[in-house]
Amino acid sequence: MRVIIPPIKSQGIKTKLVPWIMELAPKVKGNWIEPFLGTGVVAFNSGYKKAILNDTNPHIINFYKGVQQKIITAPLMKNYLEQEGEILSKADNNGYEHYLKVRTRFNSGEYSPYDFIFLSRAGFNGMMRFGSKGNWNIPFCKKPDRFAQAYITKITNQLATVSQIIQPEPDWTFYNKSFVDIIPLATENDIIYCDPPYYGRYVDYYNGWSEQDEGLLFELLNKTKAKFILSTWHHNDWRENEMINKYWNKFNIVTKDHFYHNGGNIENRRTVVEALICNFDNDHIDKHNHGKLAKRRVEQLEIFELCEEHSTAHNSV
Ligand SMILES: C[S@@+](CC[C@H](N)C(=O)[O-])C[C@H]1O[C@@H](n2cnc3c(N)ncnc32)[C@H](O)[C@@H]1O
Repeated sequence: MRVIIPPIKSQGIKTKLVPWIMELAPKVKGNWIEPFLGTGVVAFNSGYKKAILNDTNPHIINFYKGVQQKIITAPLMKNYLEQEGEILSKADNNGYEHYLKVRTRFNSGEYSPYDFIFLSRAGFNGMMRFGSKGNWNIPFCKKPDRFAQAYITKITNQLATVSQIIQPEPDWTFYNKSFVDIIPLATENDIIYCDPPYYGRYVDYYNGWSEQDEGLLFELLNKTKAKFILSTWHHNDWRENEMINKYWNKFNIVTKDHFYHNGGNIENRRTVVEALICNFDNDHIDKHNHGKLAKRRVEQLEIFELCEEHSTAHNSV
């Protein structure tokens, strides 16, 4: 499966897990429903012409609504990134002054979706994180030449691709609400894919994630008539996700090793056993393919991570 990559970056992006998620997902007649859209990578690869997509992060939803309405286009993005990239490359303090300028203008309430993409692509380690007042608070990646022509082409191509996939309203509807308002919209013909912030792990998206949130999610998924898939973590080398026993064990579970390349916290940048939990028959898929990761690959990943940590220590502000 060739995975379509969205123009937004974020920690926790499911790019590598999309083929697995889609292998598990049954085909349904109704809508693809994603209450925790994030970058949108799963929705864009779902193949559904009817979708209900939601995130509490207003910048994500604003951006994709703009793309849907053809207000945000690939040529406009190209012009914008060429202009801002040029200023960045010449700005004082190795570009940092301009990164700060864009971040300040975004946080002062302009919230331009173009600046959102600039920050997403020029921020440190592909992270997306907001402070308590909703302000973007990721430092600069420290690459003044971040927006080289090839990189701009890559981003604008990604935008052009997703703009062809996103269907006009009402076939694809975007919401900026809580998952609590979205899951009850599902009918028995729909499929819900949930990828909430992971409980018990360092979560740094637009909102946090509490045990109460996990409990509410369980209540809603437990009573939905739709089919659902929930992404969560099962365990890592040190601990287990206690929510599996508390809530999710009554459903079907498949697991897989996964390595997260980005994240603000060291534990988040290690191999984790991912779980997909579902309320339908999953006989067609391997139950547990974790442990199949070759030892050599694990060692390579550890070396990669050590190098990353080393460069992080040198680059962080
Ligand atoms: C793990 S990320 C989703 C990642 C996505 N599957 C991807 O591959 O890019 C979780 C998302 O849930 C959103 N979120 C957090 N709390 C939420 C809530 N209460 N209701 C809806 N969305 C929420 C965050 O803003 C974040 O974008």
